[in-house]
Amino acid sequence: MPKVLIADKLSPRAAKLFEERGVEVDVVHGLSEEDLVARMGDYDGLAVRSATKATAAVLEAGARGRLRVVGRAGIGVDNIDVPAATAHGVVVMNTPYGNAVTTAEHAIAMMFALARQLPAADRSTQAGKWEKSKFMGVELSGKTLGVIGCGNIGSIVCDRAHGLRMKVVAYDPFLSPDRAQDLGVEKVELEELLRRADIITLHVPLTDQTRGILDAEAMAKCRKGVLIVNCARGGLVVETDLKAALESGQVGGAALDVFEVEPAKENALFGTPNLICTPHLGASTAEAQENVALQVAEQMSDYLLTGA
Ligand code: MLT
Repeated sequence: MPKVLIADKLSPRAAKLFEERGVEVDVVHGLSEEDLVARMGDYDGLAVRSATKATAAVLEAGARGRLRVVGRAGIGVDNIDVPAATAHGVVVMNTPYGNAVTTAEHAIAMMFALARQLPAADRSTQAGKWEKSKFMGVELSGKTLGVIGCGNIGSIVCDRAHGLRMKVVAYDPFLSPDRAQDLGVEKVELEELLRRADIITLHVPLTDQTRGILDAEAMAKCRKGVLIVNCARGGLVVETDLKAALESGQVGGAALDVFEVEPAKENALFGTPNLICTPHLGASTAEAQENVALQVAEQMSDYLLTGA
């Protein structure tokens, strides 16, 4: 019987599904790299969310034993050393669909929070200030949303933005004209998106091509007062450049769920005016976590039991 280690907090239904399918499961959270290296040889599969790092040392230790698959309950595989896994013949799988709606909803929530200054208005009201005239907002209806990346999450953001009566322009080199038409978005080059968008939202992975896609030069090309939402990956927006742009007013507000260094317990951006931050909550809903846990358990069981 194959045996899997669930090393991060996943919905308990994942362990149940593994067992129902005939896969033995251990659930142990908070293991150090050393602990993982010591135990990994006993498992055919490792299931993680984002806390556990499947480093080269962990994968090598696993592959010396019987490790065949690492499953990421979520989208990004940043916490898995994929080249090391490949070198050892260990398959890496993710769940690209299970948390897409939830993450898109977080991006939309961030947009509203920026447009109506909700966190600052909440703090002020609960401090007894009743500063009604201080918090003048902007309507989203009629504004142009620039979506960078029109994959699983970005395309849901486009759909929701249409419901809000926004105009959507999208930059995505992989977006075909037919798909753009289906999504009802105008496909544009990055320069044009920067020039036209009232609000920019990012939905691309962090790669050598996308790192720093919103840097000082790009932000200078935007409309003055542009709002920026990043619920994708830290490193897409250059944080030092964003701080300067928020301070000068070139960027009117930014909502960040992700940071160059996480966990972001300290960050030079904190305290900058018109900045809203959340601690990488994009996928944090009960529904999404249930989806990704079940999907990863299903995929890993299929692979371990049938090789498919
Ligand atoms: C993902 O890659 O699935 C998201 O960033 C969510 C997460 O890591 O929790």
